[in-house]
Amino acid sequence: MTALDTVPTLLHDDTDWWRQASVYQIYPRSFADGNGDGIGDLRGIISRVPYLQNLGIDAVWLSPFYPSALADGGYDVDDYRDVDSKIGTLEEFDEMVAALHGVGIRLIVDVVPNHSSDRHEWFVEALAASKGSNARERYIFRDGTGENGELPPADWTSIFGGPAWTRVPDGQWYLHSFASEQPDFNWKHPEVREDFLHTLRFWSDRGVDGFRIDVAHGLAKDLGEVLPSKAELSAMPKDGTHPLWDRDEVHEIYAEWRSVFNEYTPARTAVAEAWVETPERRAKYASPTGLGQAFNFDLMDADFSAAQFRDIVSDNLAQSAVTGSSTTWVFSNHDGIRHATRYGLPPRAGRPGKQGADWVLAGGPEDGIDRALGLRRARAATLFELALPGSAYLYQGEELGLHEVAEIPDDQRQDPAFWRTTADDRGHDGLGRDGCRVPLPWTRSGSSFGFGTGTAHLPQPAWFADFSVEAEDGAEGSTLELYRKALRLRTELQSAENLTWDEDLCGIDVLAFERPGGWLSITNFGADAVALPEGEMLVSSAPVETTADGHHQLPGATTAWLRRPVS
Ligand code: NOJ
Ligand code: CA
Repeated sequence: MTALDTVPTLLHDDTDWWRQASVYQIYPRSFADGNGDGIGDLRGIISRVPYLQNLGIDAVWLSPFYPSALADGGYDVDDYRDVDSKIGTLEEFDEMVAALHGVGIRLIVDVVPNHSSDRHEWFVEALAASKGSNARERYIFRDGTGENGELPPADWTSIFGGPAWTRVPDGQWYLHSFASEQPDFNWKHPEVREDFLHTLRFWSDRGVDGFRIDVAHGLAKDLGEVLPSKAELSAMPKDGTHPLWDRDEVHEIYAEWRSVFNEYTPARTAVAEAWVETPERRAKYASPTGLGQAFNFDLMDADFSAAQFRDIVSDNLAQSAVTGSSTTWVFSNHDGIRHATRYGLPPRAGRPGKQGADWVLAGGPEDGIDRALGLRRARAATLFELALPGSAYLYQGEELGLHEVAEIPDDQRQDPAFWRTTADDRGHDGLGRDGCRVPLPWTRSGSSFGFGTGTAHLPQPAWFADFSVEAEDGAEGSTLELYRKALRLRTELQSAENLTWDEDLCGIDVLAFERPGGWLSITNFGADAVALPEGEMLVSSAPVETTADGHHQLPGATTAWLRRPVS
């Protein structure tokens, strides 16, 4: 029996399931450890399927689980069509798909097409092959500059810091937009294109429902003989003609992928991670003839502010009206500072949305966060998000109200963004992303807080106990119970993909909108309570207050959902 045989008919029938799905991101190495070696694995995920079902999500997005030396947390892939032996086996993968499908949860997997790892068989072959060989052509090799080619082909910097070119023993250099263990593919090479079609079919045949495309804007490159300098490169417009990013012809690749997706019933879906200059350029990735959906990270970069949230929602809904795709919303993921923490730190002067950056950069201190305020706002923000039309992408641990871990000893850090930079040249997240990747606490005590029977691969702080599943399960008012309730209600209330701002209720610190069917969401971003309109109270992110004369009031930093009579 294959995983596909077990898919309930219901999952086959709904071709639009992705449009307004609640998608829960699992970073597999930090979710649950089934065999006690300190690294999360597929067995761990399988054992937690009842937890996922109970949470009420529609789909899981699984970050890379492929064989990898973990130079970049698995985004350095040795083999695109296998499971890392540290994480499980292909048989366990099939078992996981069947277990998820069995409870009506779909699965999206990560595809990392911009670069492989330096242990991928093609890169090993390229190193052994000579200059100008077919094997080298699959990547981006160049001769160096300087008298003896001892200088890199260009002075470019990698996204994780440090040089973007690394020299190989015979003197040539290869391009890596990220860590040196992540050589960039040459997407002009037909074998590279063919191989990814094979990979998409491989996982689709195993029952995978969709794909998250890493660095989707990076694949197509056009490097002439003479390379621009770093300064010239950064001055070039990203309008489709930039040598490295968001080139127009990248969409030819995705048109081919779309025809593969459409070979399946229902068609496989995809969501692009595309960092582009304008909403119009993002729309191209979301086209139905391309990947179909694209992340917008605008809310990750916003302060807890009514004005900023409103602009972001309006702009993105306008964009989706143009593309025909649905919008996506994200507050936290494996690359950013958890939103409960961002909202509990002072704003960064002159840098809206970069709340928390200085604190992470300084490695804490942990008590520098106002945990209660951060969490209160994060809960309000999430409830706001879950009422919006479109897909909500949630990151493991946010349903527990988990905070970022800042105090990680240097020698235990894993992120290449930390190891490739020095204290002087660190960017806003230069200490890296380990703080949001600390293994989840499942129990109040015990080895690695129930993550597994061994020691977690990143250190968990003592305060994790209070944020454990055990502490929150069934506890009135806990963040976990809030997510469960909101996700169930969302499924019930979800309707056409639009909203109407309720201008009578909106104010400087208040946003209120109504979805079809009388579903009203109202958020108070300020500190003082505001009056609530009439309606049946469905859920609120903090207790609603009642005045002496019996009127309901929405306290500061709180969202409530009400059902109002449909006229
Ligand atoms: C984006 C991924 O989300 C991130 O974790 C990774 O480091 C880079 N792409 C490179 O693959
Ligand atoms: Ca394990």
